[in-house]
Amino acid sequence: MRVIALPGASRFAATLAAELDCPCSALFTRSFPDGETLVRLDTDVAGEAVILAGSLDHPDLKTLPLIFAADAARELGAVKVGLVAPYLAYMRQDARFQPGEAISSRSYAFVLSSSVDFLVTVDPHLHRWRSLNDIYTIPTEVVPAAPAIAAWIRDNVPAPLIVGPDAESEQWAAHVAHLAGAPHTVMAKTRRGDRDVGVELNDKGPWPGRTPVLVDDIISTGHTLIGATLALREAGLAAPLCIGVHALFDDPALQQMHAAGIARVLSCETVAHASNAISIGPGLAHAVRRLATG
Ligand code: R5P
Repeated sequence: MRVIALPGASRFAATLAAELDCPCSALFTRSFPDGETLVRLDTDVAGEAVILAGSLDHPDLKTLPLIFAADAARELGAVKVGLVAPYLAYMRQDARFQPGEAISSRSYAFVLSSSVDFLVTVDPHLHRWRSLNDIYTIPTEVVPAAPAIAAWIRDNVPAPLIVGPDAESEQWAAHVAHLAGAPHTVMAKTRRGDRDVGVELNDKGPWPGRTPVLVDDIISTGHTLIGATLALREAGLAAPLCIGVHALFDDPALQQMHAAGIARVLSCETVAHASNAISIGPGLAHAVRRLATG
């Protein structure tokens, strides 16, 4: 087995390779003056199971190099080509919300399923799709972040109240709460636009002495967590901590979250980000071993 780091993922790939006890190298990429990309495997992959490693945030930039690398590896003799993408892109576009829209999660699944032999990821945004098998035709494994998040909360928050900011987050909030031995509640969200989000607290407790810990899969503009925080503060709860599995937000979004009263924002190490504080641990390597040797 050999791990090849996708662009920007050298640290993650090295950690994965160390857990798999196998060699790791980087995918060489170069942009031509016209914007097209050259990719090159700087290592012999004949007879190897090749594991392409890297998150798929900013997927429009990353996906073509990934497809070219997978194709090259297979052509150069790799016996299997797997993808470990801790963040899997496009899962939120899981319906035609407006007439004529692409259901991008299905299209993206078609593209990846045509390029690699298996996929390992962390908490993909499964809402209208029940599982990745609904849209992916290759073997897939989902590693949950809940055990690592619950362990962090147990170690750092004395009396937590786990809060999901919307109905979709119930799956993560309930799992984390169960593992952390804490109560949980789920709020109601209305999204009117990318940055126009209203969140209401249905169950007002009381939860005396509890610190709210908002748990969501993705933090992008931060407006879901801002809306949730405003509602929690209005109900008299303490300033919340926010934990996202996948951090896709930028510095201005972080400043807005703090201005809204969020005490701290942290994330799992699925997308390299300044907020990373929670490691997913060896779960990804275990999943790779099962799929690469299966
Ligand atoms: C969507 O339902 C997801 O679970 C997140 O709640 C959403 O992607 C967060 O986005 P934003 O930070 O832009 O509100």
